[in-house]
Amino acid sequence: MRDGFVPVARASELSPGAMKWVALDRERVLIANVGGVFYGLLDSCGHRQAPLSKGTLDGHIIECPLHFAQFDVRTGKPLGGPVAADVPTYEVQVDGDTVYARRPPPRCEGRAQEKG
Ligand code: FES
Repeated sequence: MRDGFVPVARASELSPGAMKWVALDRERVLIANVGGVFYGLLDSCGHRQAPLSKGTLDGHIIECPLHFAQFDVRTGKPLGGPVAADVPTYEVQVDGDTVYARRPPPRCEGRAQEKG
């Protein structure tokens, strides 16, 4: 297994169409099985931080339980609803019956200073 991946779940406990949240590096991470492929997403809606794991998963579309924003669980991209920002994703790998996830590298929050 590559560096930075940690075991978070058993593949056998998540049948296709199922999802659950796990703790990774003090964050809640949603692990979803979409047609036998596992994906990881921060378990927090980009609108008001509702736990997406309490929502519904239909194919690759996850719907927030609070105001029904929809995201592509494969990419974290918003598909509809009161949100414009992506939900951070996590790299996920499966080895045998173990699902591993890795925290994404830190994003550069810096901004070029504007001339005024
Ligand atoms: S908290 Fe998810 S749509 Fe509002």
